[in-house]
Amino acid sequence: MTAPQVPGVSAPLPTPPVVDLRGVRKIYEQGEMVFEALKGVDVQIAQGEMVALMGPSGSGKTTLMQIIGLLDRPSAGSYTDSD
Ligand SMILES: Nc1ncnc2c1ncn2[C@@H]1O[C@H](COP(=O)(O)OP(=O)(O)OP(=O)(O)O)[C@@H](O)[C@H]1O
Ligand SMILES: [Mg+2]
Repeated sequence: MTAPQVPGVSAPLPTPPVVDLRGVRKIYEQGEMVFEALKGVDVQIAQGEMVALMGPSGSGKTTLMQIIGLLDRPSAGSYTDSD
């Protein structure tokens, strides 16, 4: 069954997310020490969406924000910033 059509009113077009993280991993290596700070982050944020990033100290908030802010790159996965 199709949705009823209202003259002059159309459904808003789906917009792609402005922030699109897929399977983002970040591995810090210092000599022999290897630390996986992000273990596969999937996040999509829509235009105008209000988002809070919360977690205990050391959970990777700053690491994630550095990737979203293009100050650092993921070790694996993809980040698309379409804003
Ligand atoms: N440049 C770096 N080299 C090695 N390890 C790092 C580096 N930056 C962060 N880490 C490690 O990665 C993990 C996540 O750190 P991050 O700073 O992203 O956490 P956070 O959630 O922002 O913590 P906080 O709430 O204390 O600011 C921590 O274990 C931290 O020690
Ligand atoms: Mg931090």
